[in-house]
Amino acid sequence: MERRVDYNAAHRRLRLWPSIEDMVNKQVTPARTQLMPRPADYMEGAHNRYVNHLYSALHTLALPSAEAMMNLLSDAHADIALPATHFEALMHAAYRICLAQERSKPPRFLDVGCGGGTKIWAALPFFPNACGLENNPTQVQVGAAAMAKLNAPENCILQADARCFTDYASYDVIYFYRPLKDPVGLKDMEDTIMAQARPGTLLIAPYLGFSAEQDDDRCAKIAPSIYVVGMAPYQAEALRDRAEMIGTEAPSHSSSTDASLGYWRPLVEASRRNGYAL
Ligand SMILES: C[S@@+](CC[C@H](N)C(=O)[O-])C[C@H]1O[C@@H](n2cnc3c(N)ncnc32)[C@H](O)[C@@H]1O
Repeated sequence: MERRVDYNAAHRRLRLWPSIEDMVNKQVTPARTQLMPRPADYMEGAHNRYVNHLYSALHTLALPSAEAMMNLLSDAHADIALPATHFEALMHAAYRICLAQERSKPPRFLDVGCGGGTKIWAALPFFPNACGLENNPTQVQVGAAAMAKLNAPENCILQADARCFTDYASYDVIYFYRPLKDPVGLKDMEDTIMAQARPGTLLIAPYLGFSAEQDDDRCAKIAPSIYVVGMAPYQAEALRDRAEMIGTEAPSHSSSTDASLGYWRPLVEASRRNGYAL
C-alpha cells in the first residue's frame, strides 16, 4: 500500500515535467511588461464589468449601507469602493515591484480607510499579511464581522484615525483611496504617512491631487498612482526597469499542485520569486 502511494506521488511529479520545462524556458528569455496596463484594459469590456459587478455585491454585503452610513463622520468620505479590476492591477504592479526589491520578509499591506474591509480581502492573494485601518467604529464593527465570515486574518481591521496613526513604519505597501473629504485633513494624513514610512515602502494613491504626486523629495513615482518612499526619480526608474522584467504569472491563485511538488519545489519557489508560476 505504502509503495503504491509513493509510486503515485512519483508519477504525479514526473507528469509535471512539461509545465516545469515551459516555466523555466520563459525565464531564459523573459519578456518586459509594463507595471500598469492601460486603464481601458482593466476598466472596459465585458469581463472587467462582470468582475466589478460581483465585487460591488461583496462590498454591499460587507458593509450594509443603512447601518454604517447613518453613522458617517462629517469629514470622512463614505466607503466608496475603488473598482476591483483597477485595484487588482495596482496590487499586481505592487507585488512585482516588491519581488524586484528582493525583500527578505513577506511585505505587509495596509488599506488606510478600509471601510467594510473588502480591499483587505482582495489584497490577500498578493499580500497574505494584509490589514486595514478605519476610524468609523460602526464600519470597524460591521467590517470585522464580514471579514471573520470570510476567514480573513484575525483582527485585520484596526480602529484608528489615519491622521494620528503611529505605526505606518510597520508596513511595506500602504494604499489610501482618498479617505478624507477635507483637503487639509487629507494632506495631514499624507504627511503623517510619509513622515513614518520606511525608505522603499510603496505608497498607492489612486486619486487626483495626491500632494506628493510631482517633484517631491519624500517619494518618487514608479508607475501610475504608485510611489516609492525615500527614492530619487533615477532610483525609481532603475527599480521600475527591474520590476518590468518580473513575470506576470505569480502569485498563482491555485495551490492544488503544491502538495505534489516534491523535488520541484525549490525550482517552483525560485520561479515564483521571478513572477512565474506553474
Ligand atoms: C473612499 S472609502 C475607501 C474604501 C476602500 N479603502 C477602497 O479603496 O475601496 C474611504 C474610507 O475611509 C474611511 N475614513 C475616513 N476618514 C478616515 C480617517 N480619518 N481615518 C481612518 N479612516 C477614515 C471612511 O470611513 C471610508 O470607509
